[in-house]
Amino acid sequence: MRLLSKNFDPLDSNFDQSSFDAYHELQESDPVYWWEDGRGWIVTRYDDCLEVLRNAAAFGSDVRDWEEFSETSEVSELSFFRLKNYGLTASNAAEHARLRELIRKPFGPQTIRAQSELIETIATSLVSEFRSRGEADLVAEFARPFAYHVIARILGIPIHEDSADDFAELTHRGMQVMNPNLPAAARMGYIEAAEEWVACARSILDQKRREPQADLLSALVRDEHDPDTALSLLLSLVVGGTETVSNTLPLGLNELLQHPDQFKRFQEEPSSRSRAVSEILRHQASTKFLIRYAKQDVVLRQRLIIEGQIVYVAMGAAHRDPGVFREPDRFDISREPQGDQAFFGAGSRFCLGSHLARLELEIGLSTLMSQLSHLSRPSAVLEFEPNSLVRGLQHLPICFDPA
Ligand code: HEM
Repeated sequence: MRLLSKNFDPLDSNFDQSSFDAYHELQESDPVYWWEDGRGWIVTRYDDCLEVLRNAAAFGSDVRDWEEFSETSEVSELSFFRLKNYGLTASNAAEHARLRELIRKPFGPQTIRAQSELIETIATSLVSEFRSRGEADLVAEFARPFAYHVIARILGIPIHEDSADDFAELTHRGMQVMNPNLPAAARMGYIEAAEEWVACARSILDQKRREPQADLLSALVRDEHDPDTALSLLLSLVVGGTETVSNTLPLGLNELLQHPDQFKRFQEEPSSRSRAVSEILRHQASTKFLIRYAKQDVVLRQRLIIEGQIVYVAMGAAHRDPGVFREPDRFDISREPQGDQAFFGAGSRFCLGSHLARLELEIGLSTLMSQLSHLSRPSAVLEFEPNSLVRGLQHLPICFDPA
């Protein structure tokens, strides 16, 4: 155990380089592990993770159930955070179901399939901006704007050349306040961005109230009369729809580039892509931890979790659990689905955007492959974002034939 507690430090910026070894050690020796610096329990085995996510009576998402929560802390006073008290994260079961119903419609499988052309057009247009250069940073120049533009179009966020990019940038910067590893010096800038995000989002919704259109945000403000609730749902959709896809796509491309035979298969056999996307979501999970708060005392694998304590559900670990996935560390896009896969969570808070996410990954990756010939990446060591909740690359430099 001493060795583990020394090496296991999700707050360390190098953690992502070796996290899966540490997870395996925990799965083997201490699957419900007290993480001293995180002042909470880390759950690493697949079945236990699912048990925590599904047992909403014992494990909730409302930060106000945390024993250390303070209404007056610097962060909880932000309007960005207060919004969480109105929305999906903090609502009880009946209110949660009502809120989901307000925003569910455009994300069903068939409605999302019908967006394929739009998603492909966005991807192709972004590639055309750097195609002639022969090199690009896939994170900044493709993955981030791609995820943002898709969700903006689906929701009906106006895309005027200037303000769309402002709001995209604000979203990315504002979301950083949720990063528990934020250095104090950087915090002020992000706090300002988060507050600006709220002001900007409020004015987008006001505009929809004044001039409704045939889009999700207009329907939302028509059906939901509490402005803070509507704002909070917009926050969940924009946050849920951007960082997740923009982190997963570069991680997936990077893995495919390291396995040229699998890259070729993805490129040449469209029928292989759905399973390949599952393997990317499994092997390269971008959600490191989902957080829950114990609503009562619970015993899990003989550990007593006390009411009010945090439980970190280690999604990356769960999907590399050798008890469920054969040779879990091997990347194999032809892998038969194993286990009851939970890439998008489990229980009542299951990801609302799972069909959209899969389609974006499939179309985003295939567009890059079809538009850029001799795609490769320089052999530099890749740096991960310093964030203990989310796993993503800071940059992914790529090279290709200029066209
Ligand atoms: C690779 C992409 C994605 C991954 C891995 C992912 C993963 C997840 C997971 C694990 C949850 C459950 C959170 C919890 O239990 O605390 C979740 C919830 C959610 N996701 Fe996603 N997601 C992705 C893309 C998207 C997209 C594109 C959208 C856009 C609509 C979206 C919207 C949401 C929303 C609104 C929730 C909250 C649902 C609720 O509380 O009822 N996600 N996602």
